[in-house]
Amino acid sequence: MNVQLKADHVWFHYTDEEGNRTSDDVLKDVSLEIEKGSFTAVLGHNGSGKSTLARLMNGILVPGSGTVLVEGMDTRDEDLLYDIRRHVGMVFQNPDNQIVATIVEEDVAFGPENLGIDPAEIRRRVDDALRAVDMYDYRLHAPSQLSGGQKQRVAIAGIIAMRPDCIILDEPTAMLDPRGRREVMKTIRMLNREFGITVVLITHYMDEAVQADRVVVMDDGKIILDNVPQAVFTKPELLQAVGLDVPQAAELLQSLGEAGLPITVSAIDEASCVDAIMNLFA
Ligand SMILES: Nc1ncnc2c1ncn2[C@@H]1O[C@H](COP(=O)(O)OP(=O)(O)O)[C@@H](O)[C@H]1O
Ligand SMILES: [Mg+2]
Repeated sequence: MNVQLKADHVWFHYTDEEGNRTSDDVLKDVSLEIEKGSFTAVLGHNGSGKSTLARLMNGILVPGSGTVLVEGMDTRDEDLLYDIRRHVGMVFQNPDNQIVATIVEEDVAFGPENLGIDPAEIRRRVDDALRAVDMYDYRLHAPSQLSGGQKQRVAIAGIIAMRPDCIILDEPTAMLDPRGRREVMKTIRMLNREFGITVVLITHYMDEAVQADRVVVMDDGKIILDNVPQAVFTKPELLQAVGLDVPQAAELLQSLGEAGLPITVSAIDEASCVDAIMNLFA
C-alpha cells in the first residue's frame, strides 16, 4: 500500500499558550493509514475528535505523543510544514470563512500566488480549477452573489489550484441545502476518480459516507470501526450505540429481523434491500 497520511499511536489534548492542558485527551492512541488515491469517510458524533484528527493530518496541530507522517514527512518538523501544506489541502465547513477575495477568480488564485507560482501558470491553474468544479462561468462574479454550494465549490477550486495530492474536507456540506450538498459531493467524487486526489471526507451524513471506499467511525477519541461501507453500515447496533444514524435500508432489515423474520442486515441501498426481502420467498 502506498501510504499518504499516517497517524501512529497518536494521543492529543489541547493546551493554552503557556502549555497548560485545556481539554481531556481528545485523541486516544489513534492509528490510521490513508492510502494514496483512496476516498475515506470519517464519521462520528460531535466531539468525537474528527476535526482534531483533520488538523493533525496537515500539521495545523501536532500530536502530544505518537507521530503523524504526510508522505513520510513528520508534522513535528517545522521546516517541512510548507511542503506538508502543499501536499494536503483543507476545506472547512463554512465557505464564507475561506473566501478572501471579492472576485471568484482572484480568490482561486490566492493559494497558488502564495506558493510563488508564476503568473501564466496561475492563470492556467485557476481556469482549470474553476472548470473542474463547474464554476468557470462565474469567474468574474463576486463570491457574495453565490449560493452556499457554489461558494464551497469555489473554496475547493482554490485548494485544487494548489495541486495537492490529498484533500481533507471537514463537514463541507454541513451548511448547505440539499442541492448544494449534491453539487459539492459530485465535485468531491470527481476529484477522487478523475484527478486521483486522495480524499478524506469528514461528515455526519450517511448518504455521503456510503460513497467512499472506506468508512472510519470515531467515538470518544478512538477509531471504533474501519471498513468498507457495506461492512460498516450493516452493523446498525454499533452505529446506534455511538449516536449515528443507519441507512434506511439497513434499518428496515434490522426491524424485520427483530420482528422474527429470518433475515440478516445485509443491505445499505434500496435495490439490495429488496433482494434480501425477496429471498425470504424464494
Ligand atoms: N481549541 C480547543 N480547546 C479545547 N478543547 C477543544 C478545542 N477544540 C476542540 N476541543 C474539544 O476536543 C473534543 C473533540 O473536538 P473535535 O475534534 O472538534 O470533534 P468533532 O470534530 O468530532 O466534533 C471535544 O470535546 C471538544 O470540546
Ligand atoms: Mg468537527
